[in-house]
Amino acid sequence: MSTTNPLVEAFNQTAYPVIGHGKRNVSVLIEALEQIDPELDSDNYGSGEVIERFQAQIAQYLGKPSAVFFPSGTMAQQIALRIWCDRKGLKKVAYHPLSHLEIHEEQGLQELHQIESILLADKTRIIRLEDVVNLKEDVACVLLELPQREIGGQLPEYEELEAISSYCREKGIKLHLDGARLYETLPYYQKTAEEICSLFDSVYVSFYKGIGGIAGAMLAGDEEFTKESKVWKRRHGGDLISLYPYILSAEYYFNERKDKMGLYYEAAKELADFYRACRALEVRPQVPVSNMFHVHVPLPKSKLEPILISVYQDTEVGLTANLKENGEHACYYEVSLGDRYAKIPKAKLAQAMKLLDERTADVL
Ligand SMILES: Cc1ncc(COP(=O)(O)O)c(C=O)c1O
Repeated sequence: MSTTNPLVEAFNQTAYPVIGHGKRNVSVLIEALEQIDPELDSDNYGSGEVIERFQAQIAQYLGKPSAVFFPSGTMAQQIALRIWCDRKGLKKVAYHPLSHLEIHEEQGLQELHQIESILLADKTRIIRLEDVVNLKEDVACVLLELPQREIGGQLPEYEELEAISSYCREKGIKLHLDGARLYETLPYYQKTAEEICSLFDSVYVSFYKGIGGIAGAMLAGDEEFTKESKVWKRRHGGDLISLYPYILSAEYYFNERKDKMGLYYEAAKELADFYRACRALEVRPQVPVSNMFHVHVPLPKSKLEPILISVYQDTEVGLTANLKENGEHACYYEVSLGDRYAKIPKAKLAQAMKLLDERTADVL
């Protein structure tokens, strides 16, 4: 891919990129389809063996009566919230101020469904039971994201999750899980997906984050809920005549990687140890609770970028391709680990982290 961003270019040239599973190129689809029978029939507007088999597998994995494949989580979640609002006759939901719906969906929930959102907690921390209890207005649904991506993938303790779930059930508030990275939380919680999902009325999971597929999502819940979600999928134009390239690749990588989440979690803890030893850097959360964390640097992007590029060139290790500004004088980046991490020689990694420590400490 051609690009003019020097950090992306330098990262792409490293022999040992740290983040993710691999390059997001066409080989991802080719590998997934390699073993597929060319005579296999396509799905057809949401029906057919290809889609129904995978929906049944994921419904069982999540411990829900039924699941529906969607082209995107954005579509699936807006629809889930719409259904819960219609059921209660109340167009209000609550979620985190940094949830995907709030910051990445161009106000789709408000513009397409006229649903009002109430923001729980503040931007720096996860939602707690007291935030839900102290809600000043009634809502149809509370959405929790596990882990909360935009603050480094933080998680509530399991007991708190149980308490939020019981409270919502008692008050007649539906609880929806944004489980874009649900699989990645299982090693920390030491629970099955089914156990966690039993605390929620509806669940969305993704197939291209920790799973590393091309795109696609599943929305799970009771039969009536998923039946209604199919009608909304049709209304949104989400019932493509054929979704099999997404479904077959999602199925392939789900089966490949669902049991590797423990490895990615251990990798994140190990790499966070390296980062914590860098004097100028801060890791959030300090100890990762999934395969991800954020690295905060008290330097503007313009100062950190050349340091990172020099580390990549001197060590062949690529730490990130993407820096985000945090005010004028600081920046941060997301670290999310997958298959690539295990391929990096430890000595190379140690050398890269040592240089990063020295060069960031020097500038400060
Ligand atoms: C937490 C979270 N929720 C929802 C979504 C939406 O997923 P999609 O890209 O499939 O629309 C994302 C995508 O990055 C996400 O990170």
